[in-house]
Amino acid sequence: MACIGKWTLLMLITLLCGCSAILGQSEKRKVHIVYMGNSHANPEKATNLHQKVLAKVLSGKEEVSRLMVYSYTASLSGFAAKLSTTEAASISKMPGVVSVFPSSVKKLHTTRSWDFLGLSATSNHGFPTGGSDVIIGVLDTGVWPESESFSDKYLPDPIPSRWKGTCVSGDSFNSSNCNRKLIGAKMFPNGYEKGFGPITGSGEYRSPRDAAGHGSHTASTAGGSSVSHASLFGLAEGTARGGTPTARIAAYKVCWFDACTDADILAAFDEAVADGVDLISFSIGGSGQDYFSDATAIGAFHAVQNGVFVSSSAGNSGPKLATVTNAAPWLTTVAASSIDRKFTSSILLGNNLSYKGNAVNTIALSHPWYPLVSGEAIRNPSSPFADKAKYCYNGSLNSDKVKNNLVVCYGGLGGADATVLAAGGAGVILVDTFEFTSSIPSSVVGNADAEHILEYINSTRSPVANILPSITTVDDSLVPQTAIFSSRGPNVITPDILKPDITAPGIDILAAWPPVSSISGGRTDNRSSSFNIISGTSMSCPHVTGAAAFVKSFHPKWSPAAIKSALMTTATPLDGDKIFNEDGALGYGSGLISPIKAKDPGLVYDADTTDFALFLCGLNYTSEQVQLVSGFSNFSCPQDLPSVNDLNYPSIAIANVQGSLNRSIIRTLTNVGFSGSSTYTVQIQAPKGVSVTVSPSSLHFDAPYQRLSFHVNFQANSLPSEQVHLSGSLTWTDGLHVVRSPVLIWPASSKLK
Ligand SMILES: *[C@@H]1O[C@H](CO)[C@@H](O)[C@H](O)[C@H]1NC(C)=O
Ligand SMILES: *[C@@H]1O[C@H](CO)[C@@H](O)[C@H](O)[C@H]1NC(C)=O
Ligand SMILES: *[C@@H]1O[C@H](CO)[C@@H](O)[C@H](O)[C@H]1NC(C)=O
Ligand SMILES: *[C@@H]1O[C@H](CO)[C@@H](O)[C@H](O)[C@H]1NC(C)=O
Ligand SMILES: *[C@@H]1O[C@H](CO)[C@@H](O)[C@H](O)[C@H]1NC(C)=O
Ligand SMILES: *[C@@H]1O[C@H](CO)[C@@H](O)[C@H](O)[C@H]1NC(C)=O
Ligand SMILES: *[C@@H]1O[C@H](CO)[C@@H](O)[C@H](O)[C@H]1NC(C)=O
Ligand SMILES: *[C@@H]1O[C@H](CO)[C@@H](O)[C@H](O)[C@H]1NC(C)=O
Repeated sequence: MACIGKWTLLMLITLLCGCSAILGQSEKRKVHIVYMGNSHANPEKATNLHQKVLAKVLSGKEEVSRLMVYSYTASLSGFAAKLSTTEAASISKMPGVVSVFPSSVKKLHTTRSWDFLGLSATSNHGFPTGGSDVIIGVLDTGVWPESESFSDKYLPDPIPSRWKGTCVSGDSFNSSNCNRKLIGAKMFPNGYEKGFGPITGSGEYRSPRDAAGHGSHTASTAGGSSVSHASLFGLAEGTARGGTPTARIAAYKVCWFDACTDADILAAFDEAVADGVDLISFSIGGSGQDYFSDATAIGAFHAVQNGVFVSSSAGNSGPKLATVTNAAPWLTTVAASSIDRKFTSSILLGNNLSYKGNAVNTIALSHPWYPLVSGEAIRNPSSPFADKAKYCYNGSLNSDKVKNNLVVCYGGLGGADATVLAAGGAGVILVDTFEFTSSIPSSVVGNADAEHILEYINSTRSPVANILPSITTVDDSLVPQTAIFSSRGPNVITPDILKPDITAPGIDILAAWPPVSSISGGRTDNRSSSFNIISGTSMSCPHVTGAAAFVKSFHPKWSPAAIKSALMTTATPLDGDKIFNEDGALGYGSGLISPIKAKDPGLVYDADTTDFALFLCGLNYTSEQVQLVSGFSNFSCPQDLPSVNDLNYPSIAIANVQGSLNRSIIRTLTNVGFSGSSTYTVQIQAPKGVSVTVSPSSLHFDAPYQRLSFHVNFQANSLPSEQVHLSGSLTWTDGLHVVRSPVLIWPASSKLK
């Protein structure tokens, strides 16, 4: 009844005003994704089915072909189409449909922006070269094929015959741009164009060519060829190379003008799997959503089902808790951490004192001294933003007092360097916790140094200073710290699956860059370089892709879950006493990747589609939904729904414990060591106040790939309520291999909720 009433009213309005504007507006169609589960054997039949489903909600004159954006048929079944909310709702009730959701826009997980870009380090030093014909698919902003990182001169072998991908032509790109290194290059513009209009104009190529830089950077980090003497104007000079320099790369462009739509992302996942990639690197994210209302989780589910490992970035929304994205358990979710190198840019004051700031500052100032002022002292009192002068917020400063001066600004609001640049300032001393690449000379100091600098300004009539170009410092004593920006757990969708999974270098990463893209992102910054230094979980994600490619090179038959387990159980936990590491596993997961150890993990926690199907039952998906998703036509969820804690995951989280704790979970280990028989014993580091028992506490394996299960029981009368989380670990060792899982427990009363 209500429906009829609404339609009648709309028709009435349309008739009365004689225009379609009102109807058009209230029923405006947006790109939606209709997800119908696992792929069908026959792609043509699947497309017919998709057209039929769409036709059912359209009145006769609507053309299916006009509204259809993509039909996904390779690794999954579904389609993207322009639908009104009403049409989407009626499709969601049709049989065979798992979910219908708007194609949202996701973002690149780099910190690159006008005011805040990251810094450097040849990420993968220490990874051995070697590897084999693994194929890495990178879903990103495309690729700059002329970069030396994508040269095939060290790859004499022909392209693997199993490869089915191609290189497409478009704006400034054609198949002759591909080679034995860059073996695939495709673009997915339909979702973007149906939503935002044609891709034209400067700043973007309607082709797989990368105008932004992000895609070339991530692809070269994951699998770029070795390039000696790579640097950003001398900074971070060294050999740049991917984790597996002999890997092949296929670029799938899904982001246009920095916007990456679900419809395009899902098309790229579907096609990459069909093309035959072995691994997918995905440095893109949105907000936390149900697994089947998220193109990433859906695309990755079917990739993993087809044996393709998927590495994804955790996000750059830290240090706030519960910000991690790309958190489905079949994804490997990567946090970012620092390495043993930093860039320091000295600040000289007129009183002969100097301070070491952090920055990727490649610009030398031309005079020895510049007047030094604090943003706060040069506020423009008539500006509505005068109270934000301390932060050099756009509009808050008296521009006349900025010109040719060095300005001290606090970070936090962003854009300080842009404000100073626009007003003709000479440079910025930024008080912040994270360094950035700026388009003007800049250096970043902490609060203590800032206090001294401000005291100096007060102490003299004509304070002066200079900011020197950065120098590269490698220091073994620098231990890895979780990047302040790296998104933290817990996982908001399934708190009992610990996320992020692992960490990798994501601060100050040097990798390939298109010479057409500004290195700082600043519109007036015309510095061009074929390598750039940037930061983000976007940069750590391809390190894990590269490490996984390395493991896969030695173990081509291992499942994505086995590779992930190998990476996680051999990772090194970060030092919890160091600043930014206090969130423990919620910040860095199992720890920092250690690819060489991951090659020989001894044991793995494996999981296949059946395990994920049971996990979905535990999340209350119906048997019908799980059948569609898994493609198991006769699957049904067990009467006693499995606990999500029982997914055979390489880490353990028990979230939101109410009152006392008495929980038993099960795990199964697969022997991937080949020393014949081996006996592993368990070592438990119990979380404070919790008793942990494992049975059996010793596992004897006789044969390769033998599987043995064990139970872990957790008991506590009550958990200390003031604790944010309680951490421990569970480690199996045979004296040779160390197979470690972090354990995290938190009470319902904790701040994590
Ligand atoms: C592709 O690019 C190459 C080199 O720029 C050029 O020689 C060739 O004609 C192009 N091919 C097509 C089909 O446009
Ligand atoms: C700074 O050092 C220079 C040279 O060492 C010296 O001439 C000058 O007096 C010093 N200035 C101050 C303020 O100490
Ligand atoms: C400052 O704000 C003005 C008005 O909103 C805008 O036009 C300008 O681009 C901004 N400047 C910078 C440097 O962001
Ligand atoms: C500098 O002087 C200003 C104005 O007198 C004062 O508000 C500020 O606290 C002083 N800062 C330092 C670091 O002494
Ligand atoms: C960059 O811009 C500056 C002035 O804005 C100009 O002097 C310089 O020549 C430009 N450099 C290049 C490489 O275009
Ligand atoms: C599943 O449904 C049951 C019964 O309604 C509920 O107790 C449980 O919390 C649900 N589980 C999840 C993961 O939502
Ligand atoms: C499920 O279907 C397969 C064939 O697709 C059949 O071999 C198997 O026995 C069925 N299992 C059940 C529980 O019906
Ligand atoms: C813990 O739970 C198990 C199984 O539910 C039960 O048998 C056992 O008695 C419980 N232990 C305690 C101390 O409550």
